[in-house]
Order: sequence, then structure tokens, then C-alpha cells
Amino acid sequence: MKIVIMLGAPGAGKGTIASRINEKLPGTVHLSSGDLLRGAVKAGTVAGLEAKGYMDAGKLVPDTLIASMIEEYIGANGAIKLLILDGFPRTVPQAEMLDQALAKRGEKVDSVIKLNVPDALVLERLGGRRMCPACGAGYHVLTLPPQVEGVCDACQASLITRSDDNPETIANRLSVYHQQTVPLVDLYDEKGILCSINAAGELSLIVEDTVKALA
Ligand code: AP5
Repeated sequence: MKIVIMLGAPGAGKGTIASRINEKLPGTVHLSSGDLLRGAVKAGTVAGLEAKGYMDAGKLVPDTLIASMIEEYIGANGAIKLLILDGFPRTVPQAEMLDQALAKRGEKVDSVIKLNVPDALVLERLGGRRMCPACGAGYHVLTLPPQVEGVCDACQASLITRSDDNPETIANRLSVYHQQTVPLVDLYDEKGILCSINAAGELSLIVEDTVKALA
């Protein structure tokens, strides 16, 4: 299994880009730690109940909670060709837990794509983001609108605004990103597996740059 990490601020476009890579590189699986946690919250599992308070406040859930969910997923899906981890790891201890879990399987992180966007753009992107609660498709009211306002193109469900996409929680998420996730940039750069991409421009060009970086 080839393992790629998608690293970047909230709203950098990790989910949007990862979900488009599959069209270019068949056999790719996109695993979003946020989606995994939101699924657990919705299902009312023990992990979900523990995670909810942290997520609503824009804080990170405990390292061991999310690391064990990711390890369990990888253990159950060993046949995947290319796995894109979107949003995990996002602390140094999580990166160490991932390395240990992969080493047990004789695997390692192959590359890390760092999406660069200024904080001001994060606010614009998350302020206008709309999500499909049924199929998970993502939209933006200005830059990526659905064909019919408020309705998912793919499955016709009514679109929602994520509960953590409000100005106060976005500010907390950005601050947590700078404090706890940015240190991973140096860590992966020192390992020689980091590729930085300007993610502030045209979506199709960013997807192209990402695919080239993965080739
Ligand atoms: P998570 O769901 O991972 O949220 P996040 O990291 O804050 O990232 P987002 O999903 O908000 O942003 P994105 O980069 O995917 O942007 P998107 O592609 O949607 O995590 C949520 C919470 O779960 C965390 O706060 C934490 O509590 C918990 N959690 C998750 N992982 C954890 C972990 N490892 N450890 C601990 N806790 C964890 O794009 C945003 C918008 O911009 C969209 O509307 C999109 O259409 C638009 N857009 C994107 N790119 C472009 C472009 N190039 N041009 C125009 N518009 C664009």
C-alpha cells in the first residue's frame, strides 16, 4: 500500500483535492479523519461521544483516539493501492503512532503533500462551504456552487453548513493548526518526503500539481 498524507490548514482544500485524485489515479482511497470522526459521532459510538465536545470546540481529539481508528481502518483495508490520509496525522505524537503502526506491517509513509493557503483565504473558504450530509460531496457557495442552490448534484440531498464552520470555531481550528500541526512540516521535510503546493489558485491546476507530485 502506498501511503500519502495530505497536510494543510482547515479549508486548505485537503478533502476537495483528495476526492478528485481518484478520477486521475484509479484505485486511490481517500480517508478523512474528520469524516471518520463525524461518522462515529453520528453513530453514537463510544469514540464518537468522546470526540464530539472536542470537535464542537475546534480542538483536536485525543491522539490515541484518532490514531487507533486510523490503525483499525488500515488493518482492515490492506489491499488498497494508494491511501490518501486527509487530516491525519496532525500532531507529532500522531505521526509517531502512524509510523509505528505502519512499521509493524512493513510499510511507511511514502509522501506528504502540504497545501499552502493564507489564513484570510481559509476564512473565505470555510465561510462559504456547504456539505452533502448523505454522500459527503463538498461545495462552496461562490467558487464551487451546486447546479441547484442548496441541493447536492450527486444525490439531490439538501446541503448543510458544518457545525464547526462558524467564525469562532474556525479561529480556534486555525490556531490549533499553527500550534500543533505546523511542526509536522519540518518533521517530514527532514525525512525528504514533503512536497509543498500552492493551493490558493485554480482547483484543476492544484489537482494537476498534486497528481504530478504523486507520480
Ligand atoms: P476535519 O474535518 O479534518 O477539518 P479540517 O482539517 O479543519 O479541514 P476541513 O475539512 O475544514 O478543510 P479541507 O482542507 O478539507 O477543505 P475543503 O476541501 O473542504 O476535522 C474536523 C475536526 O475533527 C477537527 O477540528 C478535530 O476536532 C477533529 N479531527 C480530525 N482529524 C483529527 C486528528 N488527526 N487529530 C485530532 N482531531 C482531529 O475546502 C474548503 C472549502 O473551500 C470548500 O467549500 C471547497 O469547495 C473550497 N475550495 C477548496 N479548494 C478550492 C480551490 N482551489 N478554489 C476554490 N474553492 C476551493
